[in-house]
Formats: sequence, structure tokens, C-alpha cells
Amino acid sequence: MSYQTNEKYKTEQSNLPRHVAIIMDGNGRWAETQGKLRILGHKAGVKAVRKAITFALDHNLDALTLYAFSSENWNRPKYEVSGLIKLFIYVLNTEIKNLHKYNIKLRIIGDINPFSAQLQSNIRNSEKLTSKNNRLTLNIAVNYGGRWDIVQSVKKIAIQVQKGILNPLDINEDIIYQYICMHELAPVDLVIRTGGEHRISNFLLWQIAYAELFFTDILWPDFNDAVFQRALNSFAQRKRRFGKII
Ligand code: IPE
Ligand code: IPE
Ligand code: MG
Repeated sequence: MSYQTNEKYKTEQSNLPRHVAIIMDGNGRWAETQGKLRILGHKAGVKAVRKAITFALDHNLDALTLYAFSSENWNRPKYEVSGLIKLFIYVLNTEIKNLHKYNIKLRIIGDINPFSAQLQSNIRNSEKLTSKNNRLTLNIAVNYGGRWDIVQSVKKIAIQVQKGILNPLDINEDIIYQYICMHELAPVDLVIRTGGEHRISNFLLWQIAYAELFFTDILWPDFNDAVFQRALNSFAQRKRRFGKII
């Protein structure tokens, strides 16, 4: 497969977000409404992922962050969890060459420790292969939770305190943020959630303190350029005040 980028979008657009994060929800319902197994909804969701990546390339976004599997998704039936992990492995292995070809830097965010040694090594190799790429950073959140993210940052800071490197009185927002996932990237400007729910479901917490939110009823496998464009249009009209008056 390839990311058929569309030259016509490459015009300068003002008020574009630099970093978009997406809660890709609604795969199961998409499948159920068609009388299909839920896993077929997840498979159909992969096509929508490709569309979102292509759109992000066409619109020169700096970063795209996709929520693929939450820390709470382990609580689903075993066959769905294992189906999702198998699909993730398959997609990682089949797409990595193309991601590299399109100059995309792939990062996996989340706790990868519960995964098999083989998968952990595939993840590390994929990140290493694409680490120098600089057209788009693609973050896939797998076994990710916003609360986990804050906890893992706090743990690293506690170790520094224990070693006497850091005075607890010097802990501030900048220090906590230093260890939060994606601190090195442009801040998340826009969060899109498909599937009709109006919640964050333990996705990014620290990072979205001032992000704009866009909710749509479209189920993830039906996501396309038009929906992404609607989200960008909505973003372009927002007045971001960051607590100030203007
Ligand atoms: C989102 O789709 C994908 C994952 C959480 C892995 P769902 O599987 O949550 O689909 P719905 O919300 O049940 O329709
Ligand atoms: C959020 O969707 C997680 C992902 C999209 C990966 P869920 O379907 O798990 O969220 P809830 O359960 O509706 O809050
Ligand atoms: Mg859901």
C-alpha cells in the first residue's frame, strides 16, 4: 500500500493545527451494524488509519497521534484483546517500510512491557529505522493511559529525588512535563474523537490541558478526508485564549 498524497492540498493554510490526536472509536459498532464480527470493524479501521496518515502528510502536520489500545481495553474479552494485538503486529510489520519511505517517524507510546519480547523488539526496531525521518511524527498509543503517563513521569522524578539529584521543592510543571510522552513534539492542538462519545477515556491528559476538542458521530472505519477537513475547519475558527482575555 502507499500513502497517495494529494498535491492539491499542499497550499499554505493558516490556522492549521501542528499536532492532531485522534481517539479512533466506533469499530465494534460499525461491524455490528453490518452483522459482522467486531474484529472485522478493527480491520476496517486500519484503512481509515491510512487515510488519516495520508491527510496528515498532505496538510503538512508535524505530528499525528492515534489511540489504538487503551490500558483499560485489556478488560475486553480475551479473543478481542488477542485479535487486536495480532492486528497491531500485522500492521506494524506490513506498514513499516512505507512509513519509512514516506519519511515518517514512528513512535509507540504506552507501556509495552506486557507485550512479548518479539513484539517489543519489533517496536524498537521500527522506531529505530524511522528515527531520523522528519516529515511527520506518527505516534501510536498502545497500552496507553493518560494516568499511566503521569505516573511513569513521577516515578522517574522520584528516582532523581532519591538519588539526591533533585530537590523536591524544585519540582514544577516543566520537570513533570519533561518525562511525559511526546514532550519533545509540538503540543497537541486538536483532539478528534469519532464514534459519538464525548469523553477522553484516559487518552492524553497532561498534554491536552489546552487542546481544542472535536467530536463526531462518524464511526472510525467511516472516517475520511471530509471528516478530517471538518475538524480542521472547526479548529481554524476557535479562539484559543489560554486563559488570557484576547
Ligand atoms: C475503538 O473501537 C477501537 C478500540 C478501542 C481498540 P471500539 O472497539 O471501542 O468500538 P465500539 O466503541 O465498541 O463501537
Ligand atoms: C477509547 O475507546 C480507546 C481507543 C479508541 C483505543 P473505548 O471504546 O475503549 O472507550 P470507552 O470505553 O467508550 O470510554
Ligand atoms: Mg469504543
